[in-house]
Amino acid sequence: MSPTQPGASPAELALPIGDEALAARLRERLADVEAALFEHTTSSIAPYVTEAAQHLMLAGGKRFRPLLVLLAAEAGERPEAPEVLTAACVVEITHLGSLYHDDVMDEAELRRGADSANSRWDNLVAILTGDFLFAKSSELTSLLGADAVRIQAKTFTRLVEGQIMETVPPGPHDDALQHYLDVVAGKTGSLIATSARYGARFGGASAEVEEALRAYGEIVGSAFQLSDDIIDVMSESSESGKTPGTDLREGVPTLPVLMALASTDPADARLHDLLRADLAHDDALHAEALDLLRRHPAIDEARAYVVARAQEAKALLDVLPVGSVRSALEAFADVVAVRSA
Ligand code: IPE
Ligand code: IPE
Ligand code: MG
Ligand code: MG
Repeated sequence: MSPTQPGASPAELALPIGDEALAARLRERLADVEAALFEHTTSSIAPYVTEAAQHLMLAGGKRFRPLLVLLAAEAGERPEAPEVLTAACVVEITHLGSLYHDDVMDEAELRRGADSANSRWDNLVAILTGDFLFAKSSELTSLLGADAVRIQAKTFTRLVEGQIMETVPPGPHDDALQHYLDVVAGKTGSLIATSARYGARFGGASAEVEEALRAYGEIVGSAFQLSDDIIDVMSESSESGKTPGTDLREGVPTLPVLMALASTDPADARLHDLLRADLAHDDALHAEALDLLRRHPAIDEARAYVVARAQEAKALLDVLPVGSVRSALEAFADVVAVRSA
């Protein structure tokens, strides 16, 4: 499999790694993942399906999940095992499928700097292409054995439950923040936890390390989603490749919104009114809410919360020997917490 095949891009590491040999190995393996992703998203009978399935893959993406698989595999005795590469493709293709469905849910027009599939084609194409990708990742998972299939199925259940729970407001006796944290853990924590777990497992790490990296991935994954929520408010499309303010427009009460709503400062009355209003059909109100939220202390409060979660995740790495792999996993958690794209 050549990394120069269509679909392969120069694999840049979105991560500072001091150990140059480790960085070079990860870059090389990411290029292999890229070529394999191209192959695994190709339909054997319908070029139209291939075009739709590869549309977002070729548009870009950070490949955070496959990078985590590769990095976690370095904690084991067989980081070069072919199963590690397969697992990296499983998690990225599952993620990719979830993006097609998520853009339908969120009526998003922009993804990875390109037209979303629902916008380029329509909801039907986006949903069926997402299904095709989920089917492809299941097919690949079957190569990894029954345990891997069970782990992937449970992960996918949690991801979908999280996406569904996001559309349902918390009950009258539920805590809104806890409800939201449960959504985040399901829709994003689950797959990132499995990325770390698969890496450790197929890289030949001990059961103790596999469990520690799963728990690390679960927290890092939730932190990843919470920083995505801050990016939704703060970053422009040129940086994120997505339309800012999509969560506000869709009425998703993300971490910064929940923190702003918890403020008792009378000066926040206007923002509170806007956050409780329907912002989906009034561009002026939506712009005003976004502007007020961007300047609200809740943004820094949310950032501090995410940094604290990353610290918690890093503490779980104590099971690993001090060295370049542990440092790289620490850096991974730090990058997730402070990223702006
Ligand atoms: C976007 O994920 C959806 C979330 C779970 C926040 P990423 O931020 O990893 O998206 P890509 O793959 O880099 O486009
Ligand atoms: C999506 O969360 C999570 C999944 C795709 C499972 P978001 O709706 O925040 O993701 P973006 O911001 O559209 O990437
Ligand atoms: Mg979305
Ligand atoms: Mg988002």
